[in-house]
Amino acid sequence: MIHGFLGFLIQCFSLLQLSSKGANWDEIDFEFLGNVTGEPYTLHTNVFSQGNGDRERQFHLWFDPTTDFHTYSILWNPKRVIFYADDVPIREFKNLEYIGIPFPKNQPMRIYSSLWNADSWATQGGRIKIDWKYAPFTASYSNFTADACIWAFGASSCDTNSPYSNSNSKTKVWLRHELDIAKKRKMRWVEKNHMVYDYCKDHKRFPHGPPLECSVDNN
Ligand SMILES: *[C@@H]1O[C@H](CO)[C@@H](O)[C@H](O)[C@H]1NC(C)=O
Ligand SMILES: *[C@@H]1O[C@H](CO)[C@@H](O)[C@H](O)[C@H]1NC(C)=O
Repeated sequence: MIHGFLGFLIQCFSLLQLSSKGANWDEIDFEFLGNVTGEPYTLHTNVFSQGNGDRERQFHLWFDPTTDFHTYSILWNPKRVIFYADDVPIREFKNLEYIGIPFPKNQPMRIYSSLWNADSWATQGGRIKIDWKYAPFTASYSNFTADACIWAFGASSCDTNSPYSNSNSKTKVWLRHELDIAKKRKMRWVEKNHMVYDYCKDHKRFPHGPPLECSVDNN
């Protein structure tokens, strides 16, 4: 299991995800949806737990992600998932198991990065298709870091200093990790000015009301 920060820098359209296997998989996604030249890339995020996703939030970032490397990070610990673009938190998904919402914390996840064809739905709702004459497509990453408890051969790299023990100060920092007031304010700014889709506000899709986590403080 990996708990901690992932950082990568990207130039092109691509995907970074944490994902487990099987029918009840967990998954945390950063996806970059390409566009026609001159139109903005969309940063698409989603959180799956126990095989259920449907928690998309999308952003048009305050910079053009295709012209330079930026740092995209996922903080994942048993209490929360926070997505960052550079140092700015853009989304938080809290552990709300106490009201019955599964949280991705009971299965190990692997890190994947890939390029894929999503032209059935992604760019302008699937109206714009990939122009294969520009293939091959590439994505470049630099300065990738993973700071994590890694499972191998049935043991965690943190076992000697269990994530829940008091002696592991690094892990304690992750567990405590919460957005302070300034970071929360920054996230509100992103939500207000840069979020272009929020599943919680999609009344067409959820005519009987948005999923439960939308109506409790999930920020
Ligand atoms: C592509 O550009 C259009 C027009 O600016 C925009 O509405 C859309 O959100 C952009 N992204 C995608 C993935 O379609
Ligand atoms: C690469 O990552 C390290 C540690 O995460 C950071 O200190 C450094 O500034 C990064 N370099 C660039 C070019 O982003």
